[in-house]
Amino acid sequence: MKKLAIFASGSGSNFEAIVKDIHLSDFPAEIAVLVCDKMNAKVIDRANQYGVPVMVFAAIDFASKEAYEKVILDRLRSEQVEWIFLAGYMRLIGPTLLKAYEGRIVNIHPSLLPSFPGKDAIQQTLDSEVKVTGVTVHFVDEGMDTGPAIAQEATPRFSDDTYESLHLRIQQIEHTIYPKVIRELVTKEDTKWVNVHS
Ligand code: GRF
Repeated sequence: MKKLAIFASGSGSNFEAIVKDIHLSDFPAEIAVLVCDKMNAKVIDRANQYGVPVMVFAAIDFASKEAYEKVILDRLRSEQVEWIFLAGYMRLIGPTLLKAYEGRIVNIHPSLLPSFPGKDAIQQTLDSEVKVTGVTVHFVDEGMDTGPAIAQEATPRFSDDTYESLHLRIQQIEHTIYPKVIRELVTKEDTKWVNVHS
């Protein structure tokens, strides 16, 4: 049984898609902990609903990123977590976790990186002239959405798209691509490039 951690701070729709995928398949994995930095995030309710243990912390209670990441790392090690999947965790990962989980931290981002990294990629997309956008799953490095891509899927950006319409299409892609990539990565540990369409 592979132990996974999910880091999320928002609504948790990706968290739920991953949990459901694990529950519905014979994928030998378990979400050992949800790590969340927002006390009242909706993702915590979803974790409680599915019986996933939650570790909530407030960064302001710690002297530094290193200090809170050491506490997270202790928890991950005690749970024997092998992989970290970010799903709407709005903080850069620091050297403490990057070193301990080198090549085993993955993120999902709602654009075709390297276009529109950082906050509110969907609004950035709508503010631009692009006709195609999409979703990227990538390895995490010290930068903001800069690590090597693992999988990407595109969707058109229509001229009459609203935030809601584009967000909905992006979410539909996210909720299928992320569980697929996670399954591939966790079951084929030596795979660096994942073909999620195969
Ligand atoms: C997703 O769009 C993901 O790509 C980004 O944060 C958002 C999280 O959404 N990193 P949710 O909380 O899973 O609904």
